[in-house]
Amino acid sequence: MQSLLIALLCAGTAVDAHRQAGSTITVDLSKTYQTIDGFGTSEAFQRAVQMSKLPEAEQRRALDMLFSTTNGAGLSILRNGIGSSPDMSSDHMVSIAPKSPGSPNKPLLYAWDGSDNKQLWVSQEAVHTYGVKTIYADAWSAPGYMKTNGNDANGGTLCGLSGAKCSSGDWRQAYADYLTKYVEFYHQSNVTITHLGFINEPELTASYASMRLSASQAAEFIRILHPTLQKSNLTTKPAIACCDAEGWNSQAGMLGSLRAVDDMLGLVTAHAYTSQPGSPMNTRHPVWQTEAADLQGAWTSAWYSRGGAGEGWTWANNVYQAVVNSNASAYLYWIGVQAGNTNSHMVHIGNNKVEASKRLWALGQWSRFVRPGAVRVGVSGAGGSLRTAGFRNVDGSVAVVVINSGNAARVGVKVAGAASSKAWVTDDTREIGELQAGFADGVASVEVPSRSMATVVLYPSAGGGEAKV
Ligand SMILES: *[C@@H]1O[C@H](CO)[C@@H](O)[C@H](O)[C@H]1NC(C)=O
Ligand SMILES: *[C@@H]1O[C@H](CO)[C@@H](O)[C@H](O)[C@H]1NC(C)=O
Ligand SMILES: *[C@@H]1O[C@H](CO)[C@@H](O)[C@H](O)[C@H]1NC(C)=O
Repeated sequence: MQSLLIALLCAGTAVDAHRQAGSTITVDLSKTYQTIDGFGTSEAFQRAVQMSKLPEAEQRRALDMLFSTTNGAGLSILRNGIGSSPDMSSDHMVSIAPKSPGSPNKPLLYAWDGSDNKQLWVSQEAVHTYGVKTIYADAWSAPGYMKTNGNDANGGTLCGLSGAKCSSGDWRQAYADYLTKYVEFYHQSNVTITHLGFINEPELTASYASMRLSASQAAEFIRILHPTLQKSNLTTKPAIACCDAEGWNSQAGMLGSLRAVDDMLGLVTAHAYTSQPGSPMNTRHPVWQTEAADLQGAWTSAWYSRGGAGEGWTWANNVYQAVVNSNASAYLYWIGVQAGNTNSHMVHIGNNKVEASKRLWALGQWSRFVRPGAVRVGVSGAGGSLRTAGFRNVDGSVAVVVINSGNAARVGVKVAGAASSKAWVTDDTREIGELQAGFADGVASVEVPSRSMATVVLYPSAGGGEAKV
């Protein structure tokens, strides 16, 4: 009898050992950090063309996966590539003025095709069907005829900048006019471009559209682009973004020279290839991580096996590192939807069907609940295997992210003034699946599964409801 009792007690202890002790996360709404602009992706380099060739029902599924706040990731930022190529061969993004006028003193020969490599369609869907408000248009290069190497690919720089003299003349103003015209074409098509970039990875010479710029050359060009946008007839002037450097550290290294045009700059952008977001950048402007992906691995839709570079779990944490530890206001995965056996995208096209990876749902655990304009707020009370972050949305709801690398954990979430709550989880078996949430005495209570990412949303009124666009 006694030995049986001991055996039962031991069994009980063994079960409990798989569970973490309960902890309560307290949100401090008076402690505020950066404002969140959103989470997003791109369909540049003719990926939008690939999407447009899907059967209509799959096109809708793909768009829903990216942008729907009820059954998709609820992405809130789209990054478009401003074309510079003379044609659409391969995956080239065709220019809005593919032919040289012969001289920078002659008007540019615009040939707007109303498609923009199908990016206009994706943009119109994002904005008008799903309520996306943030469209970032970024040029990888100026057209070849404006550059020192006469080609939009293979590096080279913009003629007329310091150290870049060309026999064809000074094309700086023409390039500023060109970018402004792109924004105007979108405006005429009922899409407002909110952020405008003129360069991508300025430290890289690539066999595709690419252009070299030093930080001081970038600043020199901003001095021309800014007044050009101001003089335009655009009712909404896009914020000027710079410089989409290959890595966080290289972008940080450009900030010194950009300070000379600080009042003209609106946004600092960096990629996460040569260095990941590590710490906040020294700027008063919002900072976005605008391009990251696992470019090496073969396609995987897995959540977690060993923490591989393409796994959803890895991306849940990559976003955390950028937003919580590095003051990023936005996080964009390189490509949303495309074909090919790689992880450069989040949604895979195969046999005319689309399949989402857990990378998409990891971004969605952030994006669907941490909406544009949300302010990151203080959280305390959880540690160990729980990583936590809190955000106050514009509609008054508060989203608390919990990433659990340990065993299942019962977690309480306390926010002053909360009256109801809901929770969602992504792990091996769920994709933003609803998680049972209790609510009593102003505290939400959920069991966060082992190796999962959960988002608990607390609402100021009873009944809750999903955070709206
Ligand atoms: C833009 O919106 C206006 C007014 O709603 C409409 O008349 C026009 O057809 C739209 N243009 C495009 C390209 O969608
Ligand atoms: C702005 O609109 C006015 C009136 O239509 C026009 O005269 C002017 O040239 C436009 N300016 C630019 C920069 O397009
Ligand atoms: C975080 O970014 C904001 C701009 O979005 C800036 O005002 C603030 O100073 C930054 N904080 C830190 C710690 O760098």
